[in-house]
Amino acid sequence: MSTSHPTRRIGLLTGGGDCPGLNAVIWAVVRSAARRGIEVLGIEDGFEGLIAGGTVRPLSPADIRGIHREGGTVLGTTNRGNPFRYRVEVDGVIEEQDCSDDVVRAVQRLGLEGLVVIGGDGSLAIAHELSLKGVPILGVPKTIDNDLGATDATFGFYSAVTTAMEALDKLKTTGESHDRVMILEVMGRDAGWIALHCGLAAGAHVILIPEVPYDIDAVLARVRARWDEERRHYTLVVVAEGAFPAGGGQSYLAQAGKGTVARLGGAGVTLEQLLEASFAGEDWRGQRSVPEVRTTVLGHLQRGGSPGAYDRIVSIRFGCEAVEQIAQGRWNRMVCLRGTQIESVALGDAIAQPHRVDPAGQLVAQARAVGICLGDRW
Ligand code: F6P
Repeated sequence: MSTSHPTRRIGLLTGGGDCPGLNAVIWAVVRSAARRGIEVLGIEDGFEGLIAGGTVRPLSPADIRGIHREGGTVLGTTNRGNPFRYRVEVDGVIEEQDCSDDVVRAVQRLGLEGLVVIGGDGSLAIAHELSLKGVPILGVPKTIDNDLGATDATFGFYSAVTTAMEALDKLKTTGESHDRVMILEVMGRDAGWIALHCGLAAGAHVILIPEVPYDIDAVLARVRARWDEERRHYTLVVVAEGAFPAGGGQSYLAQAGKGTVARLGGAGVTLEQLLEASFAGEDWRGQRSVPEVRTTVLGHLQRGGSPGAYDRIVSIRFGCEAVEQIAQGRWNRMVCLRGTQIESVALGDAIAQPHRVDPAGQLVAQARAVGICLGDRW
């Protein structure tokens, strides 16, 4: 969609789980919009800010000074506020209602010519549905999971990888001191990008990802080979939260189902139990006991904290390009990274394909080339 008159006022919101770099995008959108005479209204708590009782506030360059260095989002966010399936309590019972017309009316009432939506696959799918109802949208791809198909990278990903890599570096020294198998469970939902990158960067011996269902005997064989051939009595294992044993299923937390998205969790403990069971039948050649296994769940530490240099820069570039697209009247697109250039794609195409690790791809081959076990009989 393209408009011919100059845009004067836009809305800006952050949706879904937070991640490092959100504030840097906000900073860049507000600053570059101001230079073009475009007013920005900040919408608080994702799409909730446009539903009854929600809050919006003008954002000037003075309001966002220095925030590009900070984690989180000054606008707040939620991954529970889908206006098409909005959860409301009626007579003590939670039911889902379609409040999307409220959003359309709020956009009109506020005089917004369109919305900049900074979000992952869920928020951008909502934004796409709103665009079909006539709300002009400009998407910015956010997520630590790096699972959006239309961009070479989402912002937030490399900061999360750095956090996970640093955790692995620390688990190595304690694991080595105690001759333990140290498991780190990392986020990523159905994509193994965080696990694969942090494991490669930190020199993990085993990396388990959802795209390669694992065989516990292959993991055991790697631990044994380190023990018997390399005389190394500790092993560093990264497991993505969405990884699962071949023939089994993903691990979910007990609270799954309460929110709009089932919560993955427990892949590390599942692996720990399978490993301990497989160790029990083994002869560990005169050692005091079978190797001990310990699991650490890194959790939301991966989403918190300041963005690293790469994420700051790509976030700022995304924000600038979002405003550039709007200034050209090119709505209903998502900015994206292609090689070293920031470009844009049609919003519908942006959410069409998830980005998953290719088990036959170069990154996996290079991990194998340096001796990392992917949990299969390769
Ligand atoms: O999509 C980002 C992400 O951090 C996933 O990696 C993770 O599974 C999920 O969000 C956790 O969401 P919540 O903060 O709602 O538990």
